[in-house]
Amino acid sequence: MVEKQVKVWFLRGLKQWNKSSNNRKMPWKGEKDPYKIWLSEIILQQTRVEQGWDYYLRFIQTYPTVQSLSQASDNEVFKLWEGLGYYSRCRNLLHTARVVANQRKGKFPDTQEGLLSLKGIGNYTAAAIGSFAFGLPLAVVDGNVHRVLSRVLGIREPVDTAKGKKRMEELAESLLDKQNPAQHNQAMMDLGATVCLPRNPNCTQCPFSKKCIACTTGTVGDFPVKSKKINVRHRFFYYLMLEYRNRLLVRQRENGDVWSQLHEFILKETDEPKELEEINRASFWGMRYAKNDWQIMDQSEPIVHVLSHQRINARIIHVRIKHPLQLKGYTWMSKEQIDQLAFPRLITRYRQSR
Ligand code: ADE
Repeated sequence: MVEKQVKVWFLRGLKQWNKSSNNRKMPWKGEKDPYKIWLSEIILQQTRVEQGWDYYLRFIQTYPTVQSLSQASDNEVFKLWEGLGYYSRCRNLLHTARVVANQRKGKFPDTQEGLLSLKGIGNYTAAAIGSFAFGLPLAVVDGNVHRVLSRVLGIREPVDTAKGKKRMEELAESLLDKQNPAQHNQAMMDLGATVCLPRNPNCTQCPFSKKCIACTTGTVGDFPVKSKKINVRHRFFYYLMLEYRNRLLVRQRENGDVWSQLHEFILKETDEPKELEEINRASFWGMRYAKNDWQIMDQSEPIVHVLSHQRINARIIHVRIKHPLQLKGYTWMSKEQIDQLAFPRLITRYRQSR
């Protein structure tokens, strides 16, 4: 895929940079325990390193082994995960911990195929665990690697198509230092994360700047090429924190949408924004309460939560009632009970801010 000379030049530059200039420190760097590597990689899927850092430390402190994680309750683990988002990762994490602990005597597979058979582990994570823990010659390919390779080699094939992804995988594989896959992979990630940045890359510190196609032609902003513009779905979530004698109505969200299995208050979703005046009325919520039995305690400012394909515009109102009601699917819970459950971050933040 790449000429021998290019590979020699590339590996020399990467190694040199890694030895002399790469001062990135992270708690999982150099780790050999497949459990801890796996945990860090699942946390870092769709999460920035700075954000994942403390979560990783809390997880390994609370659950130092895959056995201890496998024995934890779903709720406890979801609570620790709260705020990291993309909660299907957390569900897969628990599932896989239990499979490894109960069906594999706590041992992670040490082959690519074995790793890929576990839920939540795709090519990227299998390559990371395989190379870091077992020294398997597998190249990691993520957004960082797409950026570095497309710029250095001037690849204009879109990286978000099946064909483009395959091309990137083949290139990464052919450039892999098979003698030191762990070091090589970590150096590629670190270069992408600290030098070859998406915007304003630090080309002056890059070992490839003299020959990098994008850098030498002043086109770093053009790479990597993407074919699609993602369509963002706008959603409007109105939450009612309905309180009666220090208890609030709560439910657990179902699967198949954002925040599945997290908890929430009464939700009404609309396709368009609503005025505060409208959501303040009991009738908006399909309820009948006289004015003096519907006491508005507080209203949040509009809250925006941005996901990769959705923009959730939320607002929370807190209402106290003197006569309780039952609502299908919802349960009255004390504030102490609620504190033990995992909620979307925007709800927890709102509660903590009051
Ligand atoms: N992103 C995903 N895995 C990573 C790792 N091991 N180091 C840095 N960033 C990462």
